[in-house]
Formats: sequence, C-alpha cells, structure tokens
Amino acid sequence: MTKKVLLATEKPFAKVAVEGIANIFNKAGYELIKLEKYTEKTDLLKAVENADAMIIRSDKADADVIAAAKALKIIVRAGAGYDNIDLNAATAKGICAQNTPGQNSNAVAELAIGFMLFAARNKFTQGNGSELKGKKLGIHAYGNVGRLVANIARGFGMEIYAFDPFVEKAKMEAEGVKVFDKMEDLYSQCDYVSLHIPANDKTKKSINYDLMSKMKKGAALINTARKEVICEESLKKIMAEREDFKYITDIAPECHAELMEKYGARYHATSKKMGAETSEANINAGLAAANQIVNFFEKGDRKFQVNK
Ligand code: 3PG
Repeated sequence: MTKKVLLATEKPFAKVAVEGIANIFNKAGYELIKLEKYTEKTDLLKAVENADAMIIRSDKADADVIAAAKALKIIVRAGAGYDNIDLNAATAKGICAQNTPGQNSNAVAELAIGFMLFAARNKFTQGNGSELKGKKLGIHAYGNVGRLVANIARGFGMEIYAFDPFVEKAKMEAEGVKVFDKMEDLYSQCDYVSLHIPANDKTKKSINYDLMSKMKKGAALINTARKEVICEESLKKIMAEREDFKYITDIAPECHAELMEKYGARYHATSKKMGAETSEANINAGLAAANQIVNFFEKGDRKFQVNK
C-alpha cells in the first residue's frame, strides 16, 4: 500500500522547501498530503487519521492527535524542540518521534544576534544606543544554536561565556568560550544573556526572579528558545523594578500586552515565532524530515528518535 505522509504545518514552510519535500516523497513512491495554515485542531485530527507518517513544526501532536492517528508510525518535528509532541502517548502507541537537530539552528542564531542589536540600539529608535563590541555575552546552553551564536558574536568582538552542564567544559573552552560552572555567574556577569535551553519539566519557569535580579545594570535577556522557560511573574516584577532591564523575545509571553504597554521601549516580542523562518532553515529542516521518514521506512533508520 502506498504510504501516506501528512505535512501538517500551521505555519507553512517556504514554497521551495515544500517542493523539495514533495520531490523526496514522489521519488520514494509515497503520497504527500498537505495541511497548511490550518486554524482548527479538528482539521488536524481528521487529516492525521490515515497517515503513516507526519511532519510538523510547532504544531501540537498532543494525546488527542496521537489517539486520532490510526496508522501513524513516525512523527518528525522538522526542527529542534519537540516539547510539542506528547512523547508518552507516542511511545505507548509505538510511534517513533524524531526531530531534525541542527537543521534550522543558523536562522535562530542570526535572530538572537539581531535581537541583541535591536536591544543595543533602542529598538532601532532615536537616541544613543550602545555597541556589542567588548560586551559580555552569556550563552545559556551551548547546543547547536548556542554554538552558532558564539561564532557570530565573536565577529562582533563580544566576549563569549557559556553555561551548559551537558557539554564537556574542554570542548567549549577549545572553541574560545569561557565557561561558568554556576548558572548564576552567567547571569550576574554578562551584559547579554541568550537563552538556548529546551522547554521540559526541569527548565519550565526556571528563568526566575533570582536569576533575573542578578543581571547587570542595563543587561538584556534574549529569548529565542521557548516562552515556557520564563517565570512570567518574575519577569513582570523585574521589568517593574528595574528601568534598565531589557527583554527581547521571539515568543510572546502571556503577559505580552501588559509588558508592551508599560515597558515598550525595552521590551519586544515578535508577533509569531520567527526564529526558524528563513527559506534556508525551511529547506534544511523540511528536507531532512522527509529523508528521515524515507530512511525510517526503507532502512529502519531511527538515528534521530527522541522517544527511546
Ligand atoms: C525549533 O524548535 O526548531 C524552533 O523553535 C523552530 O520552530 P518552528 O518550526 O515552529 O518555526
């Protein structure tokens, strides 16, 4: 039977990426079904019903979606963070969940740097800003994105610091990064802190008042990771207490309207997550996802499985 692959992207990939995905499945003899820009969950529940495989972005593959999927064997999150997949539900049904690590990282890293410039230059409004050169950048989690941020920031003449207990210290140091053993030091000593941690039970709300209040005068917190890692009550408190504190984020918090109204000069959130919104990132992640699906069915390849 012809394999059916559902491309469920509420935020669609660039046309060129979709064409590339279609080519891969065409060659493999699979049928591609597209559900793009959908607004209702019921549309996804219906579309997934007979799919053997599914590609998603930040689309929620929750327990309902997985329950509705009668034939699903693999879900690939075309991107890095897979907090949008109910892994327990997938595992219980024997569905292989995968991501495409590193494929869209450069786009996110460039946005993080853009956010730093945006913060340094008063959101591109008039008046004296400051330069990135000579400033201390603290990278919170030195994964694919963090590492690229470090590389680009070096070109701006920033001093690069990182905290990541999961990466070997020697590896980071070999790449010219000064490593903090304590997370608090990253926050207290850097002018910019750029978040690159995933959202999970350990990290949700972990960027709290204690950490934020340690940040230097005039410091900026840059979030191209996930809104869930921020403790919003703490964020509101620090924004109210400190006129010098800046928060620039790719993922609007629940309290976006309030922050925008009260502190619009030093707060910004994109209207829709745009870190990975480049044609290059869409092509890299989209094609990788398609190839992973073909390799899974044809060769049993589970290299990028995240629910092991
Ligand atoms: C990721 O985890 O890969 C990024 O957050 C990008 O998400 P998106 O595919 O929804 O833009």
